[in-house]
Amino acid sequence: MAEKKKMSVAEILAAARAQTGAAQPVAPETVVPEPDAAGQAEPSAPERPAKPAAKAATPGTPGSRPSVADILAMARAGKGGSDAAPAAKPAAPKPAAKAAEKPAAAKAQKPAAPKAVVRDTASILAAARAGAKPGPVSKADAPARPAKPPASHKPPGDSAKAAPVVPPVPPRPEKPATKKSAESQEDRRGFLEIALGSFMAMGFTALSVTGGLFTLGLARFMFPNVLAEPPSRFKVGFKEGFPTGKVETKFVAQYGVWVVNSEFQGLQQIYALKTVCTHLGCTPNWLEAEQKFKCPCHGSGFYKDGVNFEGPAPRPLERYAIRISDDGQVEIDKSRTFQEELGQWADPESYVTV
Ligand code: FES
Repeated sequence: MAEKKKMSVAEILAAARAQTGAAQPVAPETVVPEPDAAGQAEPSAPERPAKPAAKAATPGTPGSRPSVADILAMARAGKGGSDAAPAAKPAAPKPAAKAAEKPAAAKAQKPAAPKAVVRDTASILAAARAGAKPGPVSKADAPARPAKPPASHKPPGDSAKAAPVVPPVPPRPEKPATKKSAESQEDRRGFLEIALGSFMAMGFTALSVTGGLFTLGLARFMFPNVLAEPPSRFKVGFKEGFPTGKVETKFVAQYGVWVVNSEFQGLQQIYALKTVCTHLGCTPNWLEAEQKFKCPCHGSGFYKDGVNFEGPAPRPLERYAIRISDDGQVEIDKSRTFQEELGQWADPESYVTV
């Protein structure tokens, strides 16, 4: 059976034709119609074009061409061609059919044209199994593919093939700083330096001022207040420097005292009047023309000897203690005062006789 499958179709056809002896198949178009009763054959019909093999392969059709399947069946059965292909039985040779036999015989004489090898599934599988190297049946049976080498390990030749060679681009030279930008940077830097310096200078100045004030306060605390007042006792000169009837006003600003050489209660004497109004403490003025002391605040008026005579002043001016010092000069002591309303002007320490 296996030997029969390995036979090609041409061989099978040759064997079938040899067995049947009917190597001259008659085409259906070559069948000559039988003559009628008059013994004259009807004129042969014109040759029709060959039908497709599918129609000719219909078994059992009288006068049709045996199909390949029929031929194969006959070959396998080993029977004669007379039994297997009754349809292929040639018709009686007739004069009209001779012309048609020639091409058929010529066809039989011709070598079998190579036809497409028709194999059934079993024969294909057998041929595949007989092969030396069967293919993989499943994906699991397939051999593992070699792992791809990493890109970094690729030879330079492969990378060169993969990517086109790009010439190296030279680095772009840096743009030189423009003059304007440099000037602006310098201006900005200068402004920042000035501002920072100003802030620092202000801070240091404030710190210095604070430190100075703290030092002054500390010194003021360490040393108590001392009045820078003139000494209470001072010399104003000799008696001859004070003429009779005169009021000396040159010591008002420095010592706050008038030195007067005048007569009081029938006695010529030199005395020192205090320049403070007995009303509210203002400083009166000496009016030489009027020969009186006049207070500018409320208008109180005092005579040359200091007795009040007008205005709101309630009492006469006060005297300081006065005496002749050891050197003959007139010395005034402001630490002691004498009031007239109290009868103190009669005290010899309240005047110096001339
Ligand atoms: Fe001198 Fe008032 S203070 S009159």
